[in-house]
Amino acid sequence: MFSREYIMTPGPTPIPERIIKAITSKEALLPAYSKIYGEDLELVKKLVDADGKAIIIGGGATVGLEATLASLIDFKDKVLVLSAGFFGDALYKMVKYYSNNVYVLRAEAGKTVSVSEIKKFLNEHPDTKFVALTHCETTTGALFNLEEISEVVREISDAKIIVDCVSTVGAVPISLRKGHADAVIFGVQKVLNMPPGLAVIVLGNNALEVLETRQCEGYYLNLKMWLNFWEERGYLPSTPPVNLLHGLKEAINIIFEEGLENVFKRHKKVSEIIRAYLKELGLRLVIENDNIASPTITAFYLPKGVSDKLFIEHLWSKFKVLLAKTYGDLEGKAIRIGHMGSSATMDYVYITLIAITLTLKNLNLVPSLRHIPVEYFTF
Ligand SMILES: Cc1ncc(COP(=O)(O)O)c(C=O)c1O
Repeated sequence: MFSREYIMTPGPTPIPERIIKAITSKEALLPAYSKIYGEDLELVKKLVDADGKAIIIGGGATVGLEATLASLIDFKDKVLVLSAGFFGDALYKMVKYYSNNVYVLRAEAGKTVSVSEIKKFLNEHPDTKFVALTHCETTTGALFNLEEISEVVREISDAKIIVDCVSTVGAVPISLRKGHADAVIFGVQKVLNMPPGLAVIVLGNNALEVLETRQCEGYYLNLKMWLNFWEERGYLPSTPPVNLLHGLKEAINIIFEEGLENVFKRHKKVSEIIRAYLKELGLRLVIENDNIASPTITAFYLPKGVSDKLFIEHLWSKFKVLLAKTYGDLEGKAIRIGHMGSSATMDYVYITLIAITLTLKNLNLVPSLRHIPVEYFTF
């Protein structure tokens, strides 16, 4: 009955025609990559407002995260990890492979770690070398406030800030130049609407200074090696997925053509409409407070008596709308709408909200619902 699919998962996101063309073009299928790699490095730095240097590695975003930790952290360095759920916990686990002096501040599902807790920790541990966090906890949609956190970290300590920006880059303002972070890591299959396969690392000048002093070991996860190969020889220690490098240039150009500020505004607006509408339907959002809501993901608790599997299957089979289950503390209790990049548009959002409304009705989950609250369908 529905003529197309609406993929509303928190990545991979729907790939625009222009990107498909770029990754399958004749040029993208040739082996040469130096020119396009160099162009991409400048574009990714622009996306996060950075001086410093970028590295692009073939693999999932996780390879970028692990390479950054492996390259910057010395085994004796004290590291504070801020976790708001599944991906923050994964970051904590990863850091433990590279430091034996790791602490974690863990927020309950739907919350972030408060600035006062971070302040208290740093005052008690002024020798903290790194603070690592996940900008948006993709399993709950909770967003850490990087401006506030970086201000406190800089005020109290010399700690460098490492941020997993996998589900925010391109949708939430991030500026290395303004000091929001010293190292950011992201994949390309979220807001950038690419197929998965590239990990991007951007190191600000503070992180580069640390890297200088480090005796990095390992090969594929050694960022010094990647930078040295590129800067001294003009090629990389491992063959990159060349066609994806071509796609990445197109993906970032699409964003700059719309205007980065406009893209931020679009994500914010779409997420506000989704949250207001879900509340109107009587659904409970996972995040406790709108001021920590990520503009890219909204998670909501399922009404009593329905499984995530049934709800998601109904949405898919009847309306071709694909939402995502969640993981960690909320697995089975909540589901997620991804609204990022090409799915952060009103056509995707209208269909999704109507499909959720009708699913609630079809499954007899909201007996009191008499009308679709159309007043939210304005943009
Ligand atoms: C916040 C966050 N970090 C890390 C990852 C892992 O990324 P990848 O699957 O590309 O390795 C994800 C994936 O969804 C994520 O959302």
